[in-house]
Amino acid sequence: MPQILTVSTYNVKSRKGGAATPVPMSGATSGESRYLLRGKIPRVLIPQSRINKTVKRLAVRISKDYPGKRPILISILNGAFVFTADLMRQLTIPSECHFIKLSSYGNRTVSSGKVKIVIDLPANIKRSLNGRDVIIVDDIIDTGLTTKYLKARLKRLKPRTVRLCALLDKPSRRKVKVKIDYCGFRIPDKFVVGYGIDYQEDYRYLPYIGYIQS
Ligand code: IMP
Ligand code: MG
Repeated sequence: MPQILTVSTYNVKSRKGGAATPVPMSGATSGESRYLLRGKIPRVLIPQSRINKTVKRLAVRISKDYPGKRPILISILNGAFVFTADLMRQLTIPSECHFIKLSSYGNRTVSSGKVKIVIDLPANIKRSLNGRDVIIVDDIIDTGLTTKYLKARLKRLKPRTVRLCALLDKPSRRKVKVKIDYCGFRIPDKFVVGYGIDYQEDYRYLPYIGYIQS
């Protein structure tokens, strides 16, 4: 079961354990200034320590589900690269990893609804999916359009199984039904950044998941 978060869950200045606990805007200290872009520090929604625990939990489940197998992780660039790297290293089974770059957002905070392949899988990798266990790894499932599109496309390559692993699920904005086999956190309808996830290419480097307060 994913952990269900509300926006207030982790916005606590004094919260123990979270490595990065920046507070909004005027609360910036010199140590936090690297998080300050465009005059705003994203507030913490999920601290680094919680992310680490959850990634581990997902990796344990996946490792149990594929005994004796070597699943192929298909990571969706750019947002999922940090999550994929951490997840892969926590698996206790061997795995492969390939990347595909899809775009549905452009430079806005609302999905355009149209999925485009920006960088496709190489032809030899596509051929190698035949008969294999594929796990799509994504940062966040929002409308669901991106993953629905990718899943259908991958299925044409005749893998043995295709499952979906997503760190975050934003169910309030779903437009199409998507089954998330491995889900980290269910989050409210906020535009989030950090841990690989960007806003106009900024904030990917944050070690926590945050949101910009409007
Ligand atoms: P979907 O097709 O609407 O499900 O879009 C999924 C993709 O949109 C994610 O993999 C992200 O790259 C991007 N996305 C969705 N919500 C957010 C957000 O809150 N912040 C940043 N990117 C997001
Ligand atoms: Mg993405």
